[in-house]
Amino acid sequence: MRPKIIAGNWKMYKDLHASSELIASVVSRVDFDLDNVRVVVCPPFTSLELAHRLLEGSPIALGAQNMYTEDEGAFTGEISPKMLLAAGCTYVIIGHSERRQYFGETNVSVNAKVRKALAAGLTPIACVGESLEEREKGITEQVVGTQVKALFKEISEADASRVVIAYEPIWAIGTGKTATPAQAQEVHQFIRKIVAQLYSWPTADKIVIQYGGSVKPENAVDLLKQPDIDGALVGGACLKAETFVPIIRAAVKT
Ligand code: PGA
Repeated sequence: MRPKIIAGNWKMYKDLHASSELIASVVSRVDFDLDNVRVVVCPPFTSLELAHRLLEGSPIALGAQNMYTEDEGAFTGEISPKMLLAAGCTYVIIGHSERRQYFGETNVSVNAKVRKALAAGLTPIACVGESLEEREKGITEQVVGTQVKALFKEISEADASRVVIAYEPIWAIGTGKTATPAQAQEVHQFIRKIVAQLYSWPTADKIVIQYGGSVKPENAVDLLKQPDIDGALVGGACLKAETFVPIIRAAVKT
């Protein structure tokens, strides 16, 4: 059975002090059996090493929010997968819509980063999703289908099953507007079908597809109950243990 993965994307929030408070508070509240649920926190780069130390002995894994495609070199301002591994990361978010929107990430750069993350031994959480305008035009499947096909370009079937996909409709990110469970399920099922077309059904059935976009304790159970929703990429609600941990509990329950 596919695991469920609940990941917290801290975005550009929490300095060192606030990071240590949040990690400590999440760790102390995750005192229950996680069963088949994996939990990941993705703080800013500056907090990774600290988070790694504070997470020692807990079942919670560490992820980063971005990376570059080279191991080292004259790339001012960039962070390599090798550095992330050394800081204790096992996951990395790739191609978040904010990176596509504000930092020029494209389907091509997202594919290069996913390939590099896999080669380095990191689990990529690759983000896809349509804008409100695209949804209203009725081209959601076209847009998401293109993004999914692009992110798997030149990736072997064995590697493909290690990719986590996060479906995040852009109109639902940070807006309080969640896709309904049925709307999300429809796109998740579509994404799985695309993966089956690219590879095979056994591989498509293995792939974890998270939903992201205003996930909170109040809507987590209904979303996570959907057959093709295998977890959540959580923004706003992961910044407080009081709202993040109930989402983890919801995943354990469903
Ligand atoms: P949100 O963000 O939960 O605040 O909508 C999700 C994300 O951007 O990953």
